[in-house]
Amino acid sequence: MIRCTILTVLFALTTPFALLAKQETRDIQFRFKNADSVVFNHDVHLKKYNNCKICHDAIFDLKNPRHYTMDEMEKNRSCGACHAGVKAFSVAEDKNCVRCHKGIPRDIAYNVKGATDAVFSHTFHIGVYRCNDCHTKLFQFKAGAKRYTIGEKPCCGACHNGKVAFSSDSCQKCHPGYKQA
Ligand code: HEC
Ligand code: HEC
Ligand code: HEC
Ligand code: HEC
Ligand code: HEC
Ligand code: HEC
Repeated sequence: MIRCTILTVLFALTTPFALLAKQETRDIQFRFKNADSVVFNHDVHLKKYNNCKICHDAIFDLKNPRHYTMDEMEKNRSCGACHAGVKAFSVAEDKNCVRCHKGIPRDIAYNVKGATDAVFSHTFHIGVYRCNDCHTKLFQFKAGAKRYTIGEKPCCGACHNGKVAFSSDSCQKCHPGYKQA
């Protein structure tokens, strides 16, 4: 009788967990407006750890999911808890960006009031620069960042100053079709 009760309790404790482990370790997509998703693969990581608790909920709280910036990851939050260069490749190193961010980030059209759309081409700039030249230390090109007017230091104007690249006077180069008064 007692044995039976213990077995029942054990069964009740282990079954939902076992089901969760079987069913719900699918690939996780982190989506971006202007770039392909970063895919987190549970299987690859479970081969290393075989332990849900390493991540849930110490690093990824499933009851309070939230988004992190790369700045936060560089301070060991989210993926950066392990991807800091010791346990796993670092989020801060330029050569590693594309190991998580597959594909070339999209070209962007900024819808602006008072001029034609401003265009920014990742493809063009990646031909000349590394990801780290713009993300995220030197410039504020990151999610939720304040938007800057042209010429302000942290924006395009940091390079488009007439020295590194054409200056902010060349409106039409960034706002195609714009007619200067
Ligand atoms: C190396 C870290 C890591 C390990 C180990 C890990 N997970 Fe996850 N898990 C994640 C991440 C990252 C997410 C996405 C979290 C987010 O979106 O905030 C996630 C999300 C989930 C989700 C939510 C899925 C969804 O569709 O949103 C479930 C359920 C889950 N994990 C179950 C498990 C189980 C069960 C195990 C153990 C067998 C496990 N995880 C081990 C990192 C991990
Ligand atoms: C608990 C530690 C841990 C966490 C948290 C973690 N990783 Fe990893 N990850 C590893 C380890 C260890 C490896 C294998 C070693 C290596 O490649 O440097 C790895 C490998 C990878 C790989 C290469 C896998 C492959 O297919 O070759 C990718 C991509 C990756 N992780 C993405 C992520 C992303 C995205 C996150 C956050 C959502 C994350 N990881 C969170 C430990 C972790
Ligand atoms: C010349 C500067 C520059 C370079 C170099 C650059 N980026 Fe960007 N990136 C930007 C700008 C500007 C944005 C748009 C920011 C905004 O307005 O939301 C952006 C957006 C992104 C986004 C999308 C964020 C979102 O929420 O949609 C990702 C991801 C990204 N870049 C990754 C990369 C990677 C990876 C590299 C290197 C392969 C790279 N970038 C190189 C300037 C740059
Ligand atoms: C271990 C995987 C991994 C590596 C390496 C990595 N990222 Fe990310 N990155 C992510 C994930 C996952 C997110 C989304 C996080 C979220 O939404 O919680 C993200 C978000 C971003 C964003 C949007 C949020 C923000 O901070 O503006 C940009 C831009 C970005 N990454 C650029 C880069 C650049 C540039 C590098 C290389 C210096 C890099 N990432 C390296 C996984 C990675
Ligand atoms: C890290 C430096 C840097 C930053 C930041 C930067 N650019 Fe550039 N950009 C360049 C250089 C260098 C060239 C090529 C030289 C030239 O044309 O004067 C260039 C060329 C261009 C061109 C012409 C080539 C093309 O894509 O057709 C446009 C348009 C442009 N940039 C727009 C932008 C916009 C919009 C931003 C801000 C979102 C920006 N750039 C941020 C350095 C930069
Ligand atoms: C190097 C590229 C570049 C050049 C050159 C440029 N712009 Fe812009 N402009 C942008 C970008 C990118 C935005 C959107 C910024 C944002 O929303 O964060 C913008 C925003 C604007 C806006 C709306 C926001 C604001 O500042 O009030 C106006 C108006 C504008 N530009 C007019 C001009 C005019 C006029 C010129 C020429 C004198 C010019 N721009 C030159 C890239 C450029």
